[in-house]
Amino acid sequence: MRNITSAATMQRLALGWRRQGVRIGFVPTMGYLHAGHMSLVRRARQLVGRAGKVVVSIYVNPTQFGPSEDFSRYPRDLKRDQALCRVQGVDLIFVPSDEEMYPKPFSTFVTEGQLSDAMEGQSRPSHFRGVTTVVAKLFNLVLPDAAVFGAKDFQQAAIVQRMTRDLNFPVKVVVAPTFRESDGLAMSSRNKYLTGDLRTQAVVLWQSIQKVQALVRKKRTLGAASLKEQLREFIELQPAAKVDYIEFFDPVTLRPVNEVRGGTHLALAVFVGQTRLIDNAPL
Ligand code: PAJ
Repeated sequence: MRNITSAATMQRLALGWRRQGVRIGFVPTMGYLHAGHMSLVRRARQLVGRAGKVVVSIYVNPTQFGPSEDFSRYPRDLKRDQALCRVQGVDLIFVPSDEEMYPKPFSTFVTEGQLSDAMEGQSRPSHFRGVTTVVAKLFNLVLPDAAVFGAKDFQQAAIVQRMTRDLNFPVKVVVAPTFRESDGLAMSSRNKYLTGDLRTQAVVLWQSIQKVQALVRKKRTLGAASLKEQLREFIELQPAAKVDYIEFFDPVTLRPVNEVRGGTHLALAVFVGQTRLIDNAPL
C-alpha cells in the first residue's frame, strides 16, 4: 500500500493509471476510520475489480468546520487508519497536508446553491462549501472512475451528486448504506467522544427513526409538525440530549414536507452532551 502526501504525486500516479486503462475507485474520508468507512472501501473494490486501484484519502478538511466546531480536536490516528486500509486491500492512501490542499493564497471555492441551505447547512453555515470545494479538488487529484459516499451523510451525498452532474465531473458517484453498531447507533468517528452514559443515550437517534418508521407503517400519513414535537419530547427524555433539528423531507429535492408518509425521508441532528450526532433514514 502506498502512502502519498504530495498532491502533484497523487495526480501524476492517477494520470498514469488512467493512461493504462486501470480503473480507480475512491473513498474520501477524514480518517479515524471505522467499519462504516471500510464498507465503502469494499464497495469501491467491487466497482473497480481486482485489476483496479482503490484510493482512500485521509484529510481533516479545515474549510468544512465552523469556527466553534471540533476541527482541532477531531480524532486522528494515522497508524491505525493505515493498518485498517492495508487489511482491506487499499492500494493507496492519500494523506495531504493543509499546505498541499490549500496553498496560499487560495481563493477559489465550489458552492452548490440549492440543496446546501437546509438542515446541516442551517446549523453549519459554509460547511457544504468546504465539502464541495475539497471533494472537487480530490476528484481532480485522484481522477476516480467511481467515488463512494455514505448514506449516513445523506445531504452531503446528494450535494456531491448534484455538483458532479452540474460541473460534469466524469465520476460515477455511488451512495452506500449506513453501517451501524449492534444497538443501532450509526458508526461515526465522533462516537469516540461519547464516554460513559452518553454512549447509551446516543441510541435515542436510532430509536426515534424506528419509532417513526413503525408509526408510518401503521398510520400511513401523519402531520410533520406534530410528529416533530412528539419526537423532540421523546429524544429529550434523555438527560444529555438536545435536538438541533428534526426534518421530514422529499429525498430527491430535500424540500421539507407537511405530510409524512412512506417514502418521506427523516433526518435528525442531536447534541448528546457536547457531541453533535446525525442520522437519517427513509420511512
Ligand atoms: P467522514 O466523516 O470521514 O466520512 C467519510 C465517508 O464515510 C462519507 O462518505 C460518510 O458518509 C461515510 N460514512 C461515515 N460513517 C458511515 C457509516 N456509519 N456508514 C456508512 N458510511 C459512513 O464525510 C466526510 O468524512 C467528509 O465530509 C469528506 C466527504 C471526506 C470531505 O471532507
